[in-house]
Amino acid sequence: MTRRKHTRSQIAGRWLLFWTLFIGIGAVAGASGMLLDPSGKAMGMDAMLPYFQVLPFADILFQNYIFSGIALLVVNGLTNLTAAVLLLLKKKSGVVLGGVFGVTLMLWICIQFVIFPLNFMSTSYYVFGFCQAVTGYMTWVFCRQEAFRVDRSDYPNIGTDSTRLVVFFSRMGYVKKQAYEAANRSGAQVYEIKATERTEGTLGFWWCGRFAMHRWAMPIEPTVPDLTEYDHVTIYTPIWVFSLAAPVREFCKQAAGKIREADYILVHHTKGTYKNVSQEMDCLLGIAHTACVNISCKMGVFRNCG
Ligand SMILES: Cc1cc2nc3c(=O)[nH]c(=O)nc-3n(C[C@H](O)[C@H](O)[C@H](O)COP(=O)(O)O)c2cc1C
Repeated sequence: MTRRKHTRSQIAGRWLLFWTLFIGIGAVAGASGMLLDPSGKAMGMDAMLPYFQVLPFADILFQNYIFSGIALLVVNGLTNLTAAVLLLLKKKSGVVLGGVFGVTLMLWICIQFVIFPLNFMSTSYYVFGFCQAVTGYMTWVFCRQEAFRVDRSDYPNIGTDSTRLVVFFSRMGYVKKQAYEAANRSGAQVYEIKATERTEGTLGFWWCGRFAMHRWAMPIEPTVPDLTEYDHVTIYTPIWVFSLAAPVREFCKQAAGKIREADYILVHHTKGTYKNVSQEMDCLLGIAHTACVNISCKMGVFRNCG
């Protein structure tokens, strides 16, 4: 029996569920203690009441722990438990609320930083809030990344013009989508560069980053099409660490002298125009490109930036 591999959003989502339950249950327990014994004696917190007297309306709100208990229950308890239930029901709102309530906890602890001397508990809970907020953000990003889909069958015009070729490398599918759309418009054939090193997932991201930092070429599977047969080749590449993606660097090296005419499409997060990349590609291929377009891509939202 094969074990089902969990996606990154599922793993991050479980951590988020842990944080919402941990903070939520802890807050409900603390609030119950305060409301059951508002003097704070039972929880050994009566000596801390004087610290609250610097807060606004302290003479009404902070003479015992009733207001603090209700506030804790509402701000950190019920909120986090609601997010936990939404996460268990696999609702997207649970992810957003789980992250937001991490920030809420950090703000709550900021009040403690102001009124109490620096202490281990407050600092720990501030760190917990930060972890929760980051986990929420990561879950949200991973969900969006995994929801991004590219289906070759949506592009029926690809391959109708045998004189043109679109070559691309894509880790997460963003560059692939742009390449398919372009090939569908022009009728060009498409060829996907495949790296033989690990590029997928979180480990793959760091591995790609290593190649990119060193400006190394990354080994690729043998190029299938005969590049000399095409009148024009369009090369789509992601930008890695302000430079040419490592598998495309290897492709360009192997394609030197075989491509007659080419244009480049550079896909990246920023609004920059990476002239160093088009220059490197020209140098590797031994040609002068006919055009170069930069496309900024943020989680599947594309913008042409010159
Ligand atoms: C290792 C690595 C380094 C990156 N470095 C940059 C960078 O320096 N600048 C930038 O704008 N985007 C950078 N990116 C983001 C990619 O260029 C961008 O997400 C692109 O859309 C990836 O497309 P793909 O997922 O189809 O391969 C980097 C991505 C990776 C994996």
